[in-house]
Amino acid sequence: MEWCVSVPKIELHAHLNGSIRDSTLLDLARALGDKGLIDFSQVEHVILKRLSPIYTHFCVLKLEFDYGYLNTDNRSLSEVFKLFDLIHIVTTDHSSITRITKEVVEDFASENVVYLELRTTPKKNDSLGMSKRSYVEAVLEGLRAVSSVDVAFIPNSEEPVNLSSTLLSDASDKCNGNTRKKIFVRLLLSIDRRETTEAAMETVMLALEMRRFGVVGIDLSGNPAVGEWITYLPALMFARQQGLYVTLHCGEVSNSKEIHNMLDFLPQRIGHACFFEEEHWRKLKSSNIPVEICLTSNIRTLSVPTIDAHHFVDLYNAKHPLVLCTDDSGVFSTSLSNEYKIAASTFGLGQKEMFELSKNSIEFIFADDVVKEVLRKTFDSAAKSLTL
Ligand code: IMP
Ligand code: ZN
Repeated sequence: MEWCVSVPKIELHAHLNGSIRDSTLLDLARALGDKGLIDFSQVEHVILKRLSPIYTHFCVLKLEFDYGYLNTDNRSLSEVFKLFDLIHIVTTDHSSITRITKEVVEDFASENVVYLELRTTPKKNDSLGMSKRSYVEAVLEGLRAVSSVDVAFIPNSEEPVNLSSTLLSDASDKCNGNTRKKIFVRLLLSIDRRETTEAAMETVMLALEMRRFGVVGIDLSGNPAVGEWITYLPALMFARQQGLYVTLHCGEVSNSKEIHNMLDFLPQRIGHACFFEEEHWRKLKSSNIPVEICLTSNIRTLSVPTIDAHHFVDLYNAKHPLVLCTDDSGVFSTSLSNEYKIAASTFGLGQKEMFELSKNSIEFIFADDVVKEVLRKTFDSAAKSLTL
């Protein structure tokens, strides 16, 4: 594990609210409880993932939470989305979003993630005076608030926001003799599958407007049992025409037609690919679309039967482009270092293979060649101090 923490890493599939610290979620829930807006004692159990196997049902702000006989280690996909509804009640105000963003960046940086693509669904909440734009501005505020590491999120300048230094030469520059960690952050705006075509288009327009602040692309996510491909297609096509990158949650449930449609769209990356059939694998491999692999998430949501049977093995052996990611490090109690550790122990990867896997992720990031070159240098200098 120590080695997995020390190796530089690239995180390309992390949902902001899914990466929240348990302690922060508890803090925010307690504050709402103190105001009488929720019943904290009920929510606390769910947050701490300590639901006993008794029937659990409660109601928060008109939202019914019926967890049934929830197995706390393995939350099925539908249970996970109920949990997200709860998390959103607790987190969706400007200051909380700013705080979560800051902490999530600090957490990834602390385990030597040197490039992070953070995705989040812009939310509108009239009662809080929140628009999709003000939500994203709160996220940007969080990036500016990071003080423990230097964050570079403005493309073209690449200046760490907390330093007036020039172009990042290495993701862990020496400054006055002290090594300060540096992390590149890029943002993806997510379209939730519950949204209409108009709402999806609004998110794309916002992403275009926010490009100068490091928004580089669009993600399609949300409950895969909800919505239809045709609803999001106009917005996704427009995003691509405008030069935004697109990544899709694809094959999280068995839906052959949708998987074909998504692969035919040729997104720059896809996430998951758990319910692929032979013909989907053939199409994926011939199009060479990189896959964001989220091992713990797939196991916890029961999307793959066992870790040994995970499609990572086949894709890795086929040298198909792939990248290890966390998905929701808070919700699934994992970290990117832990995902590398699981890959090593389950699939027998040695340190050299893991290093190469991590370094190779550079090729699939949604950033320009300058950033890629800086990252290659970072990995090359790290290789000298790591035992490989
Ligand atoms: P947010 O977009 O920052 O609020 O992060 C949480 C949201 O990400 C959830 O409400 C979902 O829409 C999406 N999400 C997180 N994990 C998954 C997943 O495993 N599959 C599909 N969507 C997900
Ligand atoms: Zn995801």
